Amino acid sequence: MKGSIGIFDSGYGGLTVLKEIVKELPQYSYQYLGDNARAPYGSRSYETVYQYTLQCVEWFFSQGCSLVILACNTASAKALRTIQQKDLSKTAPNKRVLGVIRPTTEVLGQYTHTNKVGIVGTSGTILSNSYPIEIAKFFPDIKVYQEACPMWVPLIENNEYYSAGADYFVEKHLQNLFNQDKDIDTLLLACTHYPLLLEKLQQFTPSSVTIVSQGEIIAKSLADYLKRHPEVEDKCLQTASIGFYTTDDTTDFNNKATIFWGDKVHSNHVVL
Ligand code: DGL
Repeated sequence: MKGSIGIFDSGYGGLTVLKEIVKELPQYSYQYLGDNARAPYGSRSYETVYQYTLQCVEWFFSQGCSLVILACNTASAKALRTIQQKDLSKTAPNKRVLGVIRPTTEVLGQYTHTNKVGIVGTSGTILSNSYPIEIAKFFPDIKVYQEACPMWVPLIENNEYYSAGADYFVEKHLQNLFNQDKDIDTLLLACTHYPLLLEKLQQFTPSSVTIVSQGEIIAKSLADYLKRHPEVEDKCLQTASIGFYTTDDTTDFNNKATIFWGDKVHSNHVVL
């Protein structure tokens, strides 16, 4: 049986990834689930992020999805490996769950000339050390500098990302990062929310630094994955459609999702 491709995020951030995926692969059917009722995930424990993410992945499976993308760095850092290694093999060996960290680290070497890369993300993503560990596998010569930015997601979720408050927190964290090494020439936005802060980030980032968002990288990597895995591609519905789902209030979701999606969104409520 064919099903939609599931795209998951703790809230709205994954919409920045879905947007690029739909541009790259418009022919497929997508279901987007934001676990808004329990977001943010960024400051939660491993166990909590794992349990929440697993529940959402199981919801996608119950909808007939065979392929689920965790378009959330925090969930990719704290839940993906356990789901892939423990849960799928036991309960759903024919389903696939992919994250955003590996495809991003695979191409990161293309952006840096100094081999010094700065990573900004939620506390969960940064403290997990997932990025330095994965980057070392593909590019052992790259030196990685990290900075957790716990206030950035709340600023974005509360529509305060153009405010003076945002200036303060963006400048503070970027200064902390660039003070670690003045030769950092690449800044990876390792949180799907951060592309919304792009203008502010550019304002406080040296012009010689390349700012890398993940959306396009994930979209290209998914296209490549589907080419390399015809047995998975074969299970993906091609109806060129998108369904939006949230675990919280739909009116609220529709209003805020518009900021990320750039167009009107009509969501459905999901009880997990
Ligand atoms: N968008 C999520 C990420 O990429 C984080 C948001 C949250 O803290 O829930 O890490």
